[in-house]
Amino acid sequence: MSVADLSTPLKFAYWVPNVSGGLVVSTIEQRTGWDFDYNRELARIAEDAGFEYALSQTRYAASYGADKQHEATSFSLALLAATEKLKVIAAVHPGMWHPGVLAKFIITADHISNGRAAVNIVSGWLKDEFVDFGLDWLEHDERYVRTEEFIRVLRGLWTEEGYSQSGTYYDITDFTLSPAPVEVPGRPHPEIFFGGNSTAAQATAGRVADWYFSNGKDLEGFRENIAGVQASAAGAGRHPRYGLNGFVIARDSEKEARETLREIVAKAHRPAVEGFRDAVQEAGASTQDGRGMWADSSFEDLVQYNDGFRTQLIGTPEQIAERIVEYKKIGVNLFLTCYLHFQEEVAAFGTDILPIVRQLEADAARAAGVDFDPDATLTAHESTKAGI
Ligand SMILES: Cc1cc2nc3c(=O)[nH]c(=O)nc-3n(C[C@H](O)[C@H](O)[C@H](O)COP(=O)(O)O)c2cc1C
Repeated sequence: MSVADLSTPLKFAYWVPNVSGGLVVSTIEQRTGWDFDYNRELARIAEDAGFEYALSQTRYAASYGADKQHEATSFSLALLAATEKLKVIAAVHPGMWHPGVLAKFIITADHISNGRAAVNIVSGWLKDEFVDFGLDWLEHDERYVRTEEFIRVLRGLWTEEGYSQSGTYYDITDFTLSPAPVEVPGRPHPEIFFGGNSTAAQATAGRVADWYFSNGKDLEGFRENIAGVQASAAGAGRHPRYGLNGFVIARDSEKEARETLREIVAKAHRPAVEGFRDAVQEAGASTQDGRGMWADSSFEDLVQYNDGFRTQLIGTPEQIAERIVEYKKIGVNLFLTCYLHFQEEVAAFGTDILPIVRQLEADAARAAGVDFDPDATLTAHESTKAGI
């Protein structure tokens, strides 16, 4: 079944650089700051440029050289307070939070921001963060059992009064959080994103996530991911939406863009990339079927630690826009983007690439005999109701 939605404009997000070192593990010049002042300015640039979402990263310890990290939920809240339209997605680990505490935190963030708070539930790969905090480090697939229960508690506490849930990891008894999240038309509760690639991640996301986030993929790889999520979503009667990571290198010529990629990889910080490769063995490669995030990533892929080069958003603005719309035709609803020089390149994305994307989206819809509404803001929930 095709999940492509040609009538609704693609959505765009950027990675919040709230950890040091930029989004590539390379000594190439990166004019990207990780401090709050830089990020506040970036968030304002992004919302003016047409970005609807920003995604923060949760990290407690150095790895791949990201030796300084700002905490994700507090940083996201500060960005919400500094902006007007941007929805900020805070990354959180089940296992580090009680879901009731997080539900309450996000409700407050939602009120402060007038309904713009969201979460990205990530199940974790950096074992040392858990073990050295004295927390349980669960075996790979078991992490997703906890994640699923965690998301069910979040959604239950956000949408019901007197909520109860009993399971392996959480016991909630007749609990009501007051106030409830802000009422936003078409949004039953703050949106729940979900990051993961393995078979267990896909199956879990299909059952409980509003949005499934994937690491960078080529077209075929993303098709496979969608199929995995869809299979479980169909069984649960759900219709999640799909986000894909991509590292954007837009230059005047394709040659120049390719040369920049070559330089990023040539100047890769080899020990940090190799250390990262060892650490992520706890993720996809540790599953029984050996499939999952980073299981087949090459050295070059790992230089952008979420496989962002694989999406190949590299070339002239026209080439990148065309590539983006190819992915839309196979079911991508949102692009999660990263850059070498965030402030400059996020602004340039808005002026140079986005108008071409909108034109191509309108053309694609017309060719398929579908009405394209440039102002449509279909949320995951509305698509669920519409049965798309
Ligand atoms: C878009 C996206 C964002 C992620 N953000 C984080 C993060 O902020 N912190 C973190 O520890 N892991 C993050 N992860 C990684 C997940 O926690 C998980 O380890 C990873 O998806 C590997 O799991 P898998 O092998 O089950 O696919 C992210 C994953 C994706 C796809």
